[in-house]
Order: sequence, then C-alpha cells, then structure tokens
Amino acid sequence: MASCVAFFLLLLSFSFPVNSMPLNNWTAIAPTSWINSPAIPVSANFPDGSVVRVVLLRPLNPAGYGPSFSVGFYCLSPCKSFFFSIFIVIVDKEGSIDKFYSHPEVIWLANRAHPVSENATLQLKSQSGLTLRDSDGKLVWTSDVGSRSVAGININGSGNLVLFDINNSLIWQSWDHPTDSLVMGQSLAGDQRLIASSSSTNLTEGSLYLTLLAGGLFAFVNSSPPQLYYQLSPDSNRAVDKSAFMTFGNGSLYINSVSEPIIDLGGANNIQYIRLEYDGHLRLYQYDSSNQLNVKDLFTTNNCAYPNFCGHYGICNNGQCTCPVGISSNYFKLVHDRQPQLGCSAETPITCEDVNNHLWLTVNNVSYFNYIDDTAFSRIDEDSCRKACLVNCSCKAVVYRFFGGNNSDGRCFQLSEVFSFENYEPKEPYTNSSAYIKVQVAPSSRVALGAILGFTFGALLFLLALMSIYLVWFRRGKEASDEDFIDQLPGTPIRFSFEELQVATENFTKKLGEGAFGTVFQGNWSNKIIAVKKLHSFRHGKKTFLAEAETIGSIHHINLVRLIGFYADKLNRLLVYEYMCNGSLDKWIYYSDGRDPLDWSTRFNIITDIAKGLCYLHEDCRQRIVHFDIKPENILLDEKFTAKISDFGLSKLIDRDISKIVTRLRGTPGYLAPEWITAVVTKKVDVYSFGVVVMEILCGRRNIDNSQIEENRHLITMLENKSKSNELLDLIDKNLGDVELYEQDIMNVMKLAMWCLQRDGRRRPSMSAVVKVLEGAMDVEASLDYNFVSSIPMNKNEVRQVDQSAPFLASTLSGPR
Ligand SMILES: *[C@@H]1O[C@H](CO)[C@@H](O)[C@H](O)[C@H]1NC(C)=O
Ligand SMILES: *[C@@H]1O[C@H](CO)[C@@H](O)[C@H](O)[C@H]1NC(C)=O
Ligand SMILES: *[C@@H]1O[C@H](CO)[C@@H](O)[C@H](O)[C@H]1NC(C)=O
Ligand SMILES: *[C@@H]1O[C@H](CO)[C@@H](O)[C@H](O)[C@H]1NC(C)=O
Ligand SMILES: *[C@@H]1O[C@H](CO)[C@@H](O)[C@H](O)[C@H]1NC(C)=O
Ligand SMILES: *[C@@H]1O[C@H](CO)[C@@H](O)[C@H](O)[C@H]1NC(C)=O
Ligand SMILES: *[C@@H]1O[C@H](CO)[C@@H](O)[C@H](O)[C@H]1NC(C)=O
Ligand SMILES: *[C@@H]1O[C@H](CO)[C@@H](O)[C@H](O)[C@H]1NC(C)=O
Ligand SMILES: *[C@@H]1O[C@H](CO)[C@@H](O)[C@H](O)[C@H]1NC(C)=O
Ligand SMILES: *[C@@H]1O[C@H](CO)[C@@H](O)[C@H](O)[C@H]1NC(C)=O
Repeated sequence: MASCVAFFLLLLSFSFPVNSMPLNNWTAIAPTSWINSPAIPVSANFPDGSVVRVVLLRPLNPAGYGPSFSVGFYCLSPCKSFFFSIFIVIVDKEGSIDKFYSHPEVIWLANRAHPVSENATLQLKSQSGLTLRDSDGKLVWTSDVGSRSVAGININGSGNLVLFDINNSLIWQSWDHPTDSLVMGQSLAGDQRLIASSSSTNLTEGSLYLTLLAGGLFAFVNSSPPQLYYQLSPDSNRAVDKSAFMTFGNGSLYINSVSEPIIDLGGANNIQYIRLEYDGHLRLYQYDSSNQLNVKDLFTTNNCAYPNFCGHYGICNNGQCTCPVGISSNYFKLVHDRQPQLGCSAETPITCEDVNNHLWLTVNNVSYFNYIDDTAFSRIDEDSCRKACLVNCSCKAVVYRFFGGNNSDGRCFQLSEVFSFENYEPKEPYTNSSAYIKVQVAPSSRVALGAILGFTFGALLFLLALMSIYLVWFRRGKEASDEDFIDQLPGTPIRFSFEELQVATENFTKKLGEGAFGTVFQGNWSNKIIAVKKLHSFRHGKKTFLAEAETIGSIHHINLVRLIGFYADKLNRLLVYEYMCNGSLDKWIYYSDGRDPLDWSTRFNIITDIAKGLCYLHEDCRQRIVHFDIKPENILLDEKFTAKISDFGLSKLIDRDISKIVTRLRGTPGYLAPEWITAVVTKKVDVYSFGVVVMEILCGRRNIDNSQIEENRHLITMLENKSKSNELLDLIDKNLGDVELYEQDIMNVMKLAMWCLQRDGRRRPSMSAVVKVLEGAMDVEASLDYNFVSSIPMNKNEVRQVDQSAPFLASTLSGPR
C-alpha cells in the first residue's frame, strides 16, 4: 500500500510542469518538520506588512498558477506573530506568489488563541500527527489523531487539510474544525459555530458567532443569554437538530440537503468562501477570472443594527457613535476619545453590592438590534419592565417598546450586557422605543445620613429615608428623560476636538484646495473621508460661530454638502464636511485638466440637482438661506455625479450682518447679479448666479474667459448677441456630442437660464419655478427681456473693470472657498 501512495505522489509530481520554484507540493509524508523562518523557500512579504511562509501549496488551475490553497505560517499586518493556517494566495505564471495585486486570504486558523513567534516548529509525526510548538518549545496546538498512525498530510483541491493513514484514508481534516470561514463544499454542523475574529487586527475569537437553528442561520453576540442580531432565511418548517448541517455548496447555502438552497448566491465559477467577520457581517468572497477578489455582503442591514458597531453602550445614529448622556452627570465616557466606535464605559462601574446607588438613565428614541428576536421579549407595562430589572442584579438595562397602543402590552427586554443602541424614529404613535440604562452613582452623603438615621430611629425611618431617596432618584431619572438628548438630536453636527482633527488630517498635510476664506484639507475620520476647512478670516466670537455652525449643520438635503461637525477656539475655526470624490464642477466643465466631457444627461441632472439644493435653501429650510456665491467651484460632485452645493450659510460664519455683506460686495465676479451695484439684494441674486452656471455647463466654458478673442470673452454678452441674431445653437459646447438628439432639451434649458439672467431681479423665477421647469411641470416665461448686459450698469467695460479689480478685492469678492 505504501507503494500505492508513492505512485500517487509520483503521478502528481509528473502531471504538472515543474516551475522555477517547487510550488506544486501539496502533500508531505511523515515524519518531517518545518521551522517558521525566512528560510522556508516559498514565502512572501506583502507590501501591507503581512507575511506568508508556505509549507503546502495547491494551485487550483492544473497549469499551476492562479488562486491557490496554501498551508503554512501566516502573519497579519503589521507582522508580530504567526498563525499556522490555510490561506489563499495568487501564484503568477512565473510560479511565484503575487504580492502586489492580492492579499493572502485566510480561511482557517489552527492556533487562533496562541499565535507563535519566529522559529516556532511545526512537526508531522506518525504517532502525534501535526503539532505546533512555539520557539520556546511550548506546545501550542495539535491535531487530535487518537491512536491512529499518520502517513502524511495533504491540502486537497477544495481547501481541506487532511491527515491520512497508510491506506490513504482520512484521520483528521480541517473541515471538521471551522474557524470563521467556510469554503465551497464545506459544511457547518448543527453543533458548530463560525466565530468572528475580535477585530481586524486581532484574529482571536471575538464575541460574534453564526450558528444553525430552526431552519436558518442565526448570528449572535455572545453574552448570557446570547443576543440575536441577524437571521438568514429562517424557516420554522425545517426541523434542525444536532444532526443538521449547513452546506456551502456551488454558490448557494443549503440546509440538510442540497435540494433547496436557503440562499442562492448566484452560482459558482471559481474559488468562493464565506467568512463571518469581526464587524458582524457575513461576506461572500469570490475570485473572478482575472483573479480579482469580489465581495458580497450576505447580511443586508444598516451598520447601526450590528451589536458592536458603536461598542458597548454606544448610540449609533446614521453611522455615528455617541455615549448616552445624563443631565447632571455624564455617567459614560468614550473608551477612546478619538475612536467613538470603540464604545463607552461607565464612569462608576455597576456593583451588585451597592444596589441603593443605582438609578436609571433614560435614552428615548433608541432601539436595540435584537428586536428581530420575538421570543426574547416579555410583554408587560413599562413600570413592571423597569422594576423587574431593578431587582435583578445581572440586568444592566431594559429596552422597552410600546406596542399596538396597549400600554400594558409593550415589549420588555432585559440586557445582561449592553451593546450598541440604534437611533430609532417612532414611525407611528404607539411604537416608540426607549432604553433605561442602569447607572451607578458614587455613594453620596444622603446615604450616609440614611444609615445614621437608620441607627438612631430604627428600621422604619431607615426604610422611609431609602424610599425618599428612591423617589428623588426616580424623579431625576424622569427629568433626565426630557433632556438627555440635547446634544444628540439626530443630524446635529459633531463638536470635534482640535486633536481629533489634527489626527484625522495627519496634521493638516493633505491640501485639497485653497480659497480666500479658507484652506481645505483631506482627512479620515471614523472610516470616512472628510474635508476639513480651516477658515482664514473670521470676525465674530466663538459663541456665535458655534451657534451658527450648529444651525448650518442641521440643514440636510441630498443636494447640499453636509457639515459633519466643527471646531472653534481662539485661533482656529474649522468646519468638517463630507468628502466629495469627484471634486468641484469647474474641473468638469472647463476641461482644465483633460477630463472627458460630461454627457447631456449628466449635465442635465447636475443642473437639476443645483436647482433643488438652492430651492431647499431659499424656500424649504427653516433658515431661508441666501447663498450669495453660487459658482461651479462651490458645486461638488459625489461618486454618482450627484451635485451638492457647498459653503451655504458660510456668510453667517464669517460675518453676521447682512447689510455689511451687501456693502462689501460678496460673491465672485462673473456670477454677480447687476443689483449688487444698486445694493438691493434678495435671494434672486442666487437665481442670477444659477443662470450663469447653467450657461457655463451648456457652453463648456467660463463666463469670463480671457483666453478667448476679445468679442468672445464674456459669455453672457455673447448670449445676448446670439439670441438677437437667433444663433443660440452656436454657443453649445462642441464636446457635447450628438447635440441634434437633445437640441430641444438643451434650448429649453438655455431659455430657462435666460429667464434666470433677467436684469430685473423681480422678473427672474423663484427656484421652485426653476425646478418645475426642469421637471417639465411648467414652461419658461414667454416674454423675456434679451438685454442681459448692454443697458444695465454692468456693461462690457465694467465687466472688465470688475475683473481687473478682482485681485485687489480678492478677499471680499471671491467666495469662501
Ligand atoms: C517537493 O516534493 C519533492 C518530492 O517529494 C521534494 O523532493 C522537494 O524537496 C519538495 N519541495 C519542497 C519545497 O518541499
Ligand atoms: C531563529 O533561529 C536562528 C537559528 O537558530 C537564530 O539565528 C535566530 O536568531 C532565531 N530568530 C529569532 C527571532 O529568535
Ligand atoms: C476535499 O475533502 C473533502 C472532505 O473530505 C471532500 O468532500 C472534497 O471532495 C475534497 N475535495 C477534493 C477536490 O478532493
Ligand atoms: C490498511 O488496509 C489493509 C487492507 O485493507 C488493512 O489490513 C490494514 O489494517 C489497513 N491499515 C490501516 C492503518 O488502517
Ligand atoms: C485580542 O483579543 C483578545 C480577546 O478580545 C484579547 O484578550 C487580546 O488581548 C487581544 N490581543 C491583542 C494583541 O490585542
Ligand atoms: C455549479 O453552478 C454552476 C452555475 O451555477 C454550474 O454551471 C455548475 O455545473 C455547478 N457545478 C456543480 C458541481 O454542480
Ligand atoms: C422622539 O421622536 C419623536 C418623533 O420623531 C419626537 O417627536 C420626540 O420628540 C422624540 N423624543 C425625544 C425625547 O427626542
Ligand atoms: C392590553 O393587553 C393586556 C395584556 O395582554 C390585556 O389584558 C388587555 O385586555 C389589553 N387591553 C386592550 C385595550 O386591548
Ligand atoms: C435577570 O436578568 C437576566 C439578564 O437580563 C435575565 O436573563 C434573567 O432572566 C433575569 N432574571 C429574572 C429572575 O428575571
Ligand atoms: C410612547 O407611547 C406611549 C403610548 O402611547 C405614550 O404613553 C408615551 O408617552 C410615549 N413616550 C414617548 C417618550 O413618546
């Protein structure tokens, strides 16, 4: 029989071309051993800092390259310690591991809890199977082979590490000991779990796990009792017992049999695996034909619904984390100042001995992820819900949700361990949801007094005192409920600390742009790219600034760039905005740096977006904001080319007094409405600037372009001339392509622009009328005045005059960029 195995091996080594490196060894015969050191011939140090040292390697492609299952030592970036594991690497056609276009993808770990160091030893012996010893000789991990005698090991073509005996029959396999991943063909038995790593940098078992229950896959966070956070296709008709199993096969997940998938992942075509990850998501990974790794999230719910998204006690609101706050005391602080996602810790830890110093911190309008778990609730009234928790030492908080208008039939859930809360907006009356968090106050003199009274006047008085204390606290708890959310209204901007922004922007090093009023830096904050604007000039005090920033930050619209937060001290005023990856509109319509022209539908959508954003500022939002500086540099584009207006309300941050703004001629030359000269300024100045921007988008050039020949320098003058000679089509951007196809639409939008450019502000449309025209619900005013320029104060000469004076007036004329 030994000859049989030998023949098998011989067959393997001859059936594939031998490359420059001996990469096609996927079997090893006992006894042998490997020392974890750079001397292992097949190894790779990846640019991100991770390291692999390969002991067995099995390319899936018979030609010996492409995605390959590997067994060996793996070190996570930044490399500190090693795991004996199975991972996938890409082997290139030269036979070496591709380091630059791929990462090692770990699908199984042996010594998850005890990583080993350099010079650790992996031994394969027939009596003991595989053993892993750290460099100090300490036994870290072993495969359990019982009394059987091992002939060798083998990584099979499905990613299964197998120990076999002399008759080539299986003794041990890694598939029986899943960690956080399943590869195609592998099953999860009813008594097994996939356990996620504790963080992206720590592969130790964390608290999230996935298991098979009642016909579906259920994801829990471990606590006593465990709390359910996601369920995948539960089907109560499918009985699941200890003999049940879930198979990840050929692009689908199946339970018990392979007849009916519980989830169809869209078919298989190459290496696939699923992994439960530290953030609680179950993801499907698949290599495509060009060896790119594609990812699909199998859990489809918003981030706030994951138990650890904001750590312990954190409150998640639109992906942002805060701690619960009380009125008189904070009770909680961030575990890490700059990483709110790590959660909150109690200022005074809860102790069971000191029950008298417990009180409730009420957090309204929050829910808890386990609301999917119907069985976890008792259905009682709110008071009984809290009382049950108060007398139960292991209860740390209750979440209560009113249900169906019956006040004595709400849902009550007691928590022994508190993970992240999620902001909850009651959709109907009767479905509001609140959390009551048990907090501990430091023992106060009142208690001491109570004790003395107790001694002096006996048990009765003592009880009375305790009762009154309880009542006082209870009332405090109630008061707290009204104001706890004062700093956490949904959508209010964040007050950053200077250090936070320093770290986020790497000490203000990545400059995105610079303008008269500020410099914009790129930054990275809680996994998001942000734009931090440092204002150069500001006139009024910190308090006013904070109040205005607070107001502006609460203005939300899809076509307005969101102010995420701000910071102010004596020397600095910083504003933190969402980052728009496609930059400002000017870069796209003037072709300054060789970008492809935008097509008509994109341009039309951008025009509509700007109109909607302005309409919201002018008419819908509480503040009724006039922008004063609409120009392409202040229109930003996101990844889908949705246009968003930036810098609205900034006039308020720089100077409050509107009359001063007017006399100081804000805005940018080329976009200024004529009435700036006469100083009667209304929101119609924005409509005029909008008209200029629309013309620029249609014509693909700046309004004032000194690189043109004299008579073409001023677009609006050209517009006037061409409209009189009926040659408007000449103006349209030559890069727009099949203009004939959309000629009617383009002319209609140009008409709209001309309406907006009416000399007399009162004749210009409101922004809501502009939106209606763009949506086709209204026509452009029929009797337009086509004298845009000549008979108004700003004639051709004056335009140039303003233009020349621009450098001189730079700080007041150009917008707050
Ligand atoms: C691969 O296997 C052959 C035959 O068993 C052996 O001679 C060779 O040393 C092995 N190469 C490595 C890198 O282990
Ligand atoms: C590993 O062992 C080699 C040879 O014994 C020795 O030179 C080296 O310093 C060791 N490395 C570490 C990190 O201990
Ligand atoms: C690998 O091993 C598993 C379990 O024994 C088996 O189901 C699978 O078919 C094997 N894969 C290959 C390619 O031999
Ligand atoms: C291998 O197979 C032979 C013949 O079937 C049997 O006699 C022998 O006991 C087997 N050895 C092991 C280790 O299972
Ligand atoms: C990894 O996580 C575990 C459990 O959460 C923890 O005990 C351990 O200290 C962590 N290790 C490192 C290096 O942070
Ligand atoms: C796996 O699925 C693909 C497409 O979904 C199909 O072409 C292929 O035959 C299937 N393979 C097996 C072994 O069922
Ligand atoms: C809870 O949300 C509702 C509806 O949005 C709101 O009316 C109520 O004021 C909120 N309560 C608190 C305490 O924020
Ligand atoms: C409310 O629920 C309680 C408990 O389930 C029930 O006894 C009571 O009749 C219900 N009241 C109404 C008005 O439905
Ligand atoms: C006490 O609280 C724990 C945790 O919330 C809960 O599991 C348990 O059922 C409660 N005990 C009683 C008697 O209510
Ligand atoms: C929640 O709804 C209940 C039942 O309608 C009502 O009595 C209670 O005042 C509401 N609580 C909040 C905070 O809105």
